[in-house]
Amino acid sequence: MELNTVKYENGELYILDTTKLPSSLEYVKMNNVEDCFNAIRALKVRGAPAIGVAAAYALVLSSKVARKTSFQEFYEDFRKDKEYLAKSRPTAVNLFWALDRIDAKVIENKDRSISEICKLIEREADLIKQEDIMMCRKIGEHGLTLLKDGMGILTHCNAGVLATSKYGTAVAPIYLAKERGMNIKVFADETRPLLQGARLTAYELYHSGVDVTLICDNMAATVMKNKWVQAVFVGCDRVAANGDTANKIGTYNLAVLAKYHNIPFYVLGPTSTIDMNIPDGSAIPIEERDKKEIIFGFGCQTAPEDVNVYNPAFDVTPNELITGIVTEKGIIKPPFKENLKKLFNE
Ligand code: MRU
Repeated sequence: MELNTVKYENGELYILDTTKLPSSLEYVKMNNVEDCFNAIRALKVRGAPAIGVAAAYALVLSSKVARKTSFQEFYEDFRKDKEYLAKSRPTAVNLFWALDRIDAKVIENKDRSISEICKLIEREADLIKQEDIMMCRKIGEHGLTLLKDGMGILTHCNAGVLATSKYGTAVAPIYLAKERGMNIKVFADETRPLLQGARLTAYELYHSGVDVTLICDNMAATVMKNKWVQAVFVGCDRVAANGDTANKIGTYNLAVLAKYHNIPFYVLGPTSTIDMNIPDGSAIPIEERDKKEIIFGFGCQTAPEDVNVYNPAFDVTPNELITGIVTEKGIIKPPFKENLKKLFNE
């Protein structure tokens, strides 16, 4: 099954609306920057790498309607849209990384004609998408070295094809293992409140013929105690310079459980998700979402409408609970502060 989270074809931008899964597979056309902002905010396109790719193409749409009489006017319009898009979601650093990368390309080429700059913006967005595919493949290859035939892996949220341009991050090694005829048994947390594990991870793994078992989030301890999983693989939205990692709410719980059960806990993500400007997890902005996501969780009311709700979309796993960070450049081991610094200085 070919799933393409962000599709740019013949000058038109489409995103796969993941909020409609698993019941229907629908691509929606993005007509302007506002459509892209709303799609990111509403989680139609979600997952750190896919958000970055969508934001890059949103700037392609922006460049098409920006004023073109002078570079200054063009850049003013471009910056306005860039700043607007940066407000769509706060946690996944790939959003800001992609926006800044396109911005840098524009500035670097400010002496060229505006039509040339527009082509360069489009080319940079294409590159971001192609590189995402390559990085995910490499993450898969490095992650594969941690797998043995017959192993059980627990994963949380969706860090698969539906969160990236291909393969995924946490799920990439599992696809590569499948390609090589290995049998890996995946346990997927359903991931309350928005059920990305059930709606997306179980969906894409099931349709790819991977042996996947869906569990509710509160079953992970039992699965570990039963010795059904030998490692935990999760994605990431932002990794701080010391290795503290923000990922979907509930990831931290899993890391604590894994430590107790002596199970290795791996974070998998591209280096574009590592934010060396943030010294530790306490500085990572954590998105809080609408209480309705919890009160009307399953399409019907499941709690008193006016009850107080706390709904953070992410949590931060302290680096001491992480066994390794699998990137496209290899597996980073503790001490993360030193080893991440080395990686970025290379
Ligand atoms: O709120 P979401 O669905 O965007 O959260 C996504 C996650 O937490 C993923 O695990 C993370 O972005 C990594 S995706 C490769």
